[in-house]
Amino acid sequence: MRKPIRKAILPVAGLGTRFLPATKAVPKEMLTVVDRPVVQHVVDEARAAGIEHIVFVTGRNKAVIEDHFDRQFELERTLQERGKLKELEQLDRDTPKAGTTSFTRQQLPLGLGHAVWCARDIIGDEPFALLLPDMLHMAKDGKGCLASMVEAYDETGGNVLAVYEVPEDQAFQYGIVGTGAVHGKAHAITQMVEKPKPGTAPSNLAISGRYILQPTIFDLLAKQGQGAGGEIQLTDSMLKLKESEPFYAVTFDGAIYDCGSKIGFLMANVAYALSRPDIEDEFRVALGQVLERK
Ligand code: G1P
Repeated sequence: MRKPIRKAILPVAGLGTRFLPATKAVPKEMLTVVDRPVVQHVVDEARAAGIEHIVFVTGRNKAVIEDHFDRQFELERTLQERGKLKELEQLDRDTPKAGTTSFTRQQLPLGLGHAVWCARDIIGDEPFALLLPDMLHMAKDGKGCLASMVEAYDETGGNVLAVYEVPEDQAFQYGIVGTGAVHGKAHAITQMVEKPKPGTAPSNLAISGRYILQPTIFDLLAKQGQGAGGEIQLTDSMLKLKESEPFYAVTFDGAIYDCGSKIGFLMANVAYALSRPDIEDEFRVALGQVLERK
């Protein structure tokens, strides 16, 4: 039996400079895609994959994320009094139960590898999931990216990364993997490089921001020096871990929206609105009207 994936890390310490002035007082993870904050969509994906405990690696000015995932007694009572039971039920479903979230601060913006390392004590000695909240994964089968990865992990064990194809001239913005032998729904990863120089990428398969990792990564992260962009890069420690443990890539079947970029965020809003049965038809008409006006 594989050790189950019970805990997930969500790094939410980033400053969101690409979204100023919106992110001056509001964390970028709290910007809404339709009527749910970006971070809530990612928590939904984690919970759909069976994750029981979420570790948020936060920073200054991010306290509102903790409030968002707490119960709101006054609001609940007001909804109850006004008979808004549907809204009340939705709030109840969205709010994690007491003791199933943790918050720790990264303190300094030293990179993704450092953010993950900050969660080491809370994760302990068990494999875990890591979800980068900027990247919204809209799966074709509706199952969720992490849920498919957990299925693959149940067969392969080891470490599992979700990947997707990016245009070759954009590979320098991502972690890129090279792949080999097939293992059920996954491919063995043979190479990994963070932000390859143009023309040097081993493939066009980018790490999409969803990971299942073994806790042995933490010791490597503790010793990891600076990499691409002068940051402590998770990919560099994964590369070291690959010397002793297998890594597998699962190709994500669906659309990915990078909500850290303006265009990605706007596309996500359109795509998620069009996938919502309650507003889809009305929104399609409204969108047509806006495009006509231009
Ligand atoms: C991070 C990872 C990179 C991955 C990317 C996905 O980079 O380091 O490997 O491909 O997320 O968004 P960042 O976007 O933080 O520069």
